[in-house]
This record gives sequence, C-alpha cells and structure tokens, in this order.
Amino acid sequence: MKNVSIAIDGPSGAGKSTLARALAKKKGYLYVDTGAIYRTLGCYVRRRGADPKDEAAVMRLLRPAKVELRYGDDGLQRMFLNGEDVSEEIRLPEVSRYASGVSAHPGVRAYLLDMQRDLARKYSVVMDGRDIGTVVLPDADVKIFLTASAEARAERRCLELQKRGTPEPLDQVLSEIVQRDWDDTHRAAAPLRQAEDAVVVDTTKLNFQESLTALLRAVGEETE
Ligand code: DC
Repeated sequence: MKNVSIAIDGPSGAGKSTLARALAKKKGYLYVDTGAIYRTLGCYVRRRGADPKDEAAVMRLLRPAKVELRYGDDGLQRMFLNGEDVSEEIRLPEVSRYASGVSAHPGVRAYLLDMQRDLARKYSVVMDGRDIGTVVLPDADVKIFLTASAEARAERRCLELQKRGTPEPLDQVLSEIVQRDWDDTHRAAAPLRQAEDAVVVDTTKLNFQESLTALLRAVGEETE
C-alpha cells in the first residue's frame, strides 16, 4: 500500500506539534517534528560557541554534528546529537534563537532535506514544519496551513510557561512571536508561506478538541 503524507505548516505557536501528534496517533502514522531537527543542529552550534548567523561557520559544523531522529517505545520522536539524547535541551528558549538562525541558511536546508524525505518514503507520516508542503513534500496527499493570531499564540505560550513554572510577561512573549514570524517569513531560503493547495485551519477561536476536529475534517476523505 502506498504511504500517505500529511504536511502541516504554519507559524510558531499555532499548536502544530500538539495537533500534528494527535492527528498522527488517530491515523496510525508516524509524527515527524522537523523543527526538532533544526533545533538539534542549533544546539550543536550553541555548544560550539559559533554564531548561528555565520553561514560558513555553521556549514563547517554540519558534518561533525550527527543529527539523528529516533522513536521511543512510546512512539514519541526523540532527537540525538552525536549519540546523546538532547530532546529536552533543544526546547530551551535560547536554542530557539539558534534554530531560527541556522534554519535560514540554504546549505543547511539542502543538507537536512533528504533526512526528511526519506522518512516520508518509508512511512506514512504527519510531518510538521515551515516548508513541508512547499519544499520538502510538494506532492503530499494533504497540505494544511495551521495558523492563529499572534495574540492567541502568545496567550497560549504564556499559559504553557506558567504551567512549567517559568512565567514570562505577555507583551514580551508577543513581541518574540512577532519577531520570529517576521524572521521565518522573510528569510530568503524556504520562507514560511502557505502552499497554493493547502487547506487553512485557523485555530484562533478554537480549543484543542475543536482544532483537532477541524484538522480531521480537512484530512478526512483524502486519506480514507
Ligand atoms: O517549530 P519549531 O519552533 O520547533 O522550529 C524551530 C525553528 O526551525 C524555527 O525558527 C523555524 C525553523 N524551521 C524551519 O525553518 N523549517 C522547518 N521545516 C521547521 C522549523
């Protein structure tokens, strides 16, 4: 049977990873979080004390950084950097900045492309990122552009930070989100944009369950 690919793109904080993971579970597909791949490379660049915006320096670090994606018994994706599990470290806010920096370089994107396409060749996947429907899997069976207003995303992020015991002021979180949106949509290499044939799911006014229902409706018939 042919493998199915569902591509989910959208800005940070739209709930992509939580929803994509839930969707993958429902469909019995593999969930691939491609942001985690850029984060792992960002983590290496940070550890080596390099500037993520320095393309030549980052390119020199690509080969020595062995980035691997593995799945635990719980079916969850974990990231390994030169054999070390860095799944927690890559979530540090500081690493987000490094991930965003390294992801802007065309050479980095080209280098990581095969890893992502390979997974979709081998398995049925729900893959989330910024350029999945436009660059990585242009022939995906279903493409979703998952979005929400910057304010709604900032409020959700604040709640998450509060729960984690590391609260941050709403205006600061909002300005970081606006900055990241700008960086992700204005970079020259594979900027975040909606694929022409993507279905837009706006979760601004939806809770988790409503968003998942909207997603399932969007992928429904194509993947039966
Ligand atoms: O989704 P995330 O916040 O974990 O992604 C981390 C960074 O990686 C983010 O700044 C955008 C970038 N990214 C990308 O350029 N392409 C992808 N397919 C996924 C993430």
